[in-house]
Amino acid sequence: LAAAPRDRLGRPLHDLRISVIETCNFRCPYCMPAEHVADGEGAPDRARRLSFDEIERLARALVRLGVRKLRLTGGEPLLRKDLPALVARLAVIPGVDDLALTTNGSLLARQAGALREAGLHRLTISIDSLDPARFRILTGGRGELDQVLAGFAAAEAAGFTAIKINCVVQRGVNEDDVLPLVERFRGTPHVVRFIEFMDVGSCNGWRPDRVVPSAVLRDRIHARWPLRALSPGYRGEVAERYAFADGAGEVGFVSSVSEPFCGDCHRARLSADGQLFTCLFAGQGHDVRPLPGEGEEALAARIAQVWRRRTDRYSELRGPRSTAAKKIEMYLIGG
Ligand code: GTP
Ligand code: 5AD
Ligand code: SF4
Ligand code: SF4
Repeated sequence: LAAAPRDRLGRPLHDLRISVIETCNFRCPYCMPAEHVADGEGAPDRARRLSFDEIERLARALVRLGVRKLRLTGGEPLLRKDLPALVARLAVIPGVDDLALTTNGSLLARQAGALREAGLHRLTISIDSLDPARFRILTGGRGELDQVLAGFAAAEAAGFTAIKINCVVQRGVNEDDVLPLVERFRGTPHVVRFIEFMDVGSCNGWRPDRVVPSAVLRDRIHARWPLRALSPGYRGEVAERYAFADGAGEVGFVSSVSEPFCGDCHRARLSADGQLFTCLFAGQGHDVRPLPGEGEEALAARIAQVWRRRTDRYSELRGPRSTAAKKIEMYLIGG
């Protein structure tokens, strides 16, 4: 039977990250550097994008296999036309307990209300700096901080609470944005998470000395606003959570480099063109685009086979040999 497969390391399938588009209006150098991905590149891929029908069929098949949490990503997911219509279709699938979206926020001001009405549960917005000039540089010269903050405000007004703010920290680049970001969102229901710069893809120029270990940031924040560790919100949660001792909310850290969390990794990633990736650092995906006339059960059985063969634990093996391999680019599977 296809139900609830385990991979070779005994890990179930619980989260599905769905990339709805293979492009972005930003060019963050750590994800989609402009010198590697020119404007208009990938436009021919549009024809190969999964339709909303196909995405819904895949999501339903994966829910049969144990998936309970869906996250929409990109590229930039809000560039996909009519995204709220997809949200509405996914939100009503029985078994989907959590439906979230990771966005750069630039197009959110106009869409927040429609996303909320369509049934989106949660939002994560990336903000690497609160300085407009630096923000612009960090987004490859494309991002307008004010637009993103307006998107954030619109999301709050639309009723999203406990919004997550993702900040990728790079040594010597935006380390000094950490305390201002904490200060800005302390005392709100929202949660800032600091992410270690990762060696995803093959073109972001990653170097180990650019990584600021989460422990360093945690100590720095703790020195200013004392923290206490919280237990994970759910098994296999990516971010470690800390509460402010004075009750002013919480912060999180995603430490895939200094403290890998592959042991509990129950995430699959679907690219916009229908490839299933069993690791963020995978060399290649598995084509799972629904075949004409293929029923949900047959599709689920096909995906279960892929999951059962899975052995990925890249972050635990990370080293000179593994970093040399060709890996899928971040913007194609949304992190
Ligand atoms: P929550 O549902 O709120 O816990 O979301 P999340 O933290 O899983 O999702 P988000 O899109 O905000 O990702 C936060 C950071 O964690 C991004 O940089 C992701 O690339 C990274 N991340 C998420 N899942 C994995 C994973 O399985 N492995 C690694 N190495 N990094 C991951
Ligand atoms: N390392 C760490 N995080 C990254 N993201 C994109 N590229 C990288 C990288 N190289 C982040 C984005 C977004 C999240 C989904 O992944 O900033 O917040
Ligand atoms: Fe776009 Fe997000 Fe990648 Fe930046 S990190 S280029 S906003 S997909
Ligand atoms: Fe999962 Fe791969 Fe990340 Fe490890 S490196 S936690 S296996 S996605």
